[in-house]
Amino acid sequence: MKKTTVGIIGGTNGMGSWLADLLKTQGCLVHVTGRKTQMTATDVARKCDVVVVAVPIAATAVVIKEVGPLMKPDQLLMDLTSLKKEPVALMLAYSGSDVVGCHPLFGPSVTNPAGHQIVLCRGRGDAWYEWIKTVFEKTGYGVLGKTPDEHDRMMSIVQTLNHLNTIALGMAIAESGIPLSEVAQFATPIFKTKMDIVKKIFTETPELYAGIIAGNPDRENVLRTYEKVVQNIRDLAAIGNGERLKTAMQAAAKKLF
Ligand SMILES: NC(=O)c1ccc[n+]([C@@H]2O[C@H](COP(=O)([O-])OP(=O)(O)OC[C@H]3O[C@@H](n4cnc5c(N)ncnc54)[C@H](OP(=O)(O)O)[C@@H]3O)[C@@H](O)[C@H]2O)c1
Repeated sequence: MKKTTVGIIGGTNGMGSWLADLLKTQGCLVHVTGRKTQMTATDVARKCDVVVVAVPIAATAVVIKEVGPLMKPDQLLMDLTSLKKEPVALMLAYSGSDVVGCHPLFGPSVTNPAGHQIVLCRGRGDAWYEWIKTVFEKTGYGVLGKTPDEHDRMMSIVQTLNHLNTIALGMAIAESGIPLSEVAQFATPIFKTKMDIVKKIFTETPELYAGIIAGNPDRENVLRTYEKVVQNIRDLAAIGNGERLKTAMQAAAKKLF
C-alpha cells in the first residue's frame, strides 16, 4: 500500500519535529523543512499528500499564503498554531484542498500521550479530518473537536491570561530593581517553581508567548479584565486588615470551585 507522504514546514524543531516523529511511527513518509533545509515549503506543497505548517506564529500567515495556492483538492493543509481562528481562515481562503486546524495542548517534549489533548478544527472535507483524528486517537492522545472560535475563546484563559500573569510577574520583579540573586536567597518552594517558569518563558521561547498574547482575538478583553482585577485588589487591600480582600477571594472561590 502506498505510504501517506507528509511535509512538515517547520519540522526541524519544536512541535513540527514532535509530529514528524509521531507520524513516522504510523508508517508515513515524512519530509521536514526549515529555513536552511534543501527541501523547501513549496517543494513539499507540490509533492506531499499532507502539508503541515508548524512555523512560529509570526511566520504562519506568510507560509500559508505561499503554499496554499499550490495545494490541490485531494491534499490536506493543516497547521499546529496555538491560535486557530486566523490560520484556519487563511488556509481556507488561500487553498482549494482539505483543511484541518490542529493545536496540541502541550509542548514538544511530551512523549507519553497519557492525559494529553489535541484540539482539531474542521476546516474543509471529512476524509483527512478522520485520518488525522484516528492517528492521534490510535497513538493515545485525546482529541477535542472544536470550532476555531471555541478554541480561541478558551485559549484566552488557558494561555493568554495564564501567560500574561507569568509575564507580569517577571516584569514586575525586574521593575522592582531588586536583583533576583538577592531575592533568591529568600526564595520559598512556590517562588522557585514560579521563577523556573518565568525563566523558561523569558529566555527560551519569548516569541511563542508574545505571539499567543498578541494574536488572541480576545486579547483586549483579557487585558482589560486583568487590569480591573489588579485595581480592585489594590483598593480592597487598602481597606481594613485584608478582610475585604479575603471576602472577595471567598466570593470568587464560590464561582470557581
Ligand atoms: N512550543 C509549544 O509548546 C507549542 C505547543 C503547541 C503549538 N505550538 C505551535 O507550534 C508552532 C511552532 O512553534 P514551536 O514552538 O514548535 O517553534 P520552534 O521550536 O521555534 O520551531 C519552529 C520551526 O519553524 C522553522 N522556522 C522558523 N522560522 C521560520 C520561517 N520564518 N519560515 C519557515 N520556517 C521557519 C524552524 O526551522 P529552522 O530553525 O530550522 O529554520 C523550526 O523547524 C507555532 O505555531 C506554535 O504556536 C507550539
